[in-house]
Amino acid sequence: MLSYRHSYHAGNFADVLKHIVLIECLEHFNKKATPFDYIDTHSGAGMYDLRSANANKTAEYKEGIAKLKRIDFPELSHYFDVIDHLNEQQNSGKGMAFYPGSPAIAHHYVTQPERQKDKAWLFELHSSDFRILSESMATGSKAMARKIRIKQEDGLKGLLSLVPPVSRRALVLIDPSYEIKTDYRDVVEAVIKAHKKFNSGTYAIWYPVVERKRVDSMWRKLKSAGIKNIDQYELGLAEDSHEMGMTSAGMIVINPPWTLKKTLNKVLPKLVKQLDRGDGHAFSLCQTLVEE
Ligand SMILES: C[S@@+](CC[C@H](N)C(=O)[O-])C[C@H]1O[C@@H](n2cnc3c(N)ncnc32)[C@H](O)[C@@H]1O
Repeated sequence: MLSYRHSYHAGNFADVLKHIVLIECLEHFNKKATPFDYIDTHSGAGMYDLRSANANKTAEYKEGIAKLKRIDFPELSHYFDVIDHLNEQQNSGKGMAFYPGSPAIAHHYVTQPERQKDKAWLFELHSSDFRILSESMATGSKAMARKIRIKQEDGLKGLLSLVPPVSRRALVLIDPSYEIKTDYRDVVEAVIKAHKKFNSGTYAIWYPVVERKRVDSMWRKLKSAGIKNIDQYELGLAEDSHEMGMTSAGMIVINPPWTLKKTLNKVLPKLVKQLDRGDGHAFSLCQTLVEE
């Protein structure tokens, strides 16, 4: 039984980092005219209304996107452009009423007129979020339904059925909630298998730091499997702790675009400054875990 709903967490500091990484990757894929596949193994509902009861129950976005201003982050113009564009489309009036999830961000890129042959594969198991996702992606036309495939199936199995893609270029986002502890193991096993079939893909794996040793074990297993070219980007609001739930969150990226580390090296310290809770405990990591 799936209980996690991303609508309670949309726009929080973890989403901010995840979506900055996602957008930088998509920008990089768009630099070449060659088509690519976007595979989102854990899609969520696609778009989130920050005025909703769910979003305001925990109001996590107030410690995330709501604290950031475009003017302070010239390096993040693409990120703010996507958010603004999607809010304009939703006719939400002034300000930011909606926060895009990863499928809405990918939709923004793969539906650009010059990207006719790109494809998106969106997996979501939760029946309500699957329904909302299907509605928000507006795949009514045949052409759009061929371009953006939405499946109520296990995303890790879906990933293995899709690689290597015909396009031979793919960006894979793996973003489980890790509510089930076996998710850590399942993600690593699926990535190792997928990488064996398709080692040139970019795999972006989101992780929460609830117990640091689980994250360390993830990347060490990837390294032991012989996977090379792995970076880690992380943003934390509090020091590691066994009692506080998620204190930090990050991305392990295999085959990152070569510009990504440089951008995050600039942006992460600024995010730390803006998102710190006023106690000086916020921190970031930006490092290569395994060389090319
Ligand atoms: C953290 S949310 C995804 C957020 C989304 N990627 C974003 O950035 O906007 C994780 C989602 O994965 C879904 N989920 C959990 N297990 C899954 C599985 N095995 N396959 C596909 N979806 C799954 C959950 O229902 C939840 O909506």
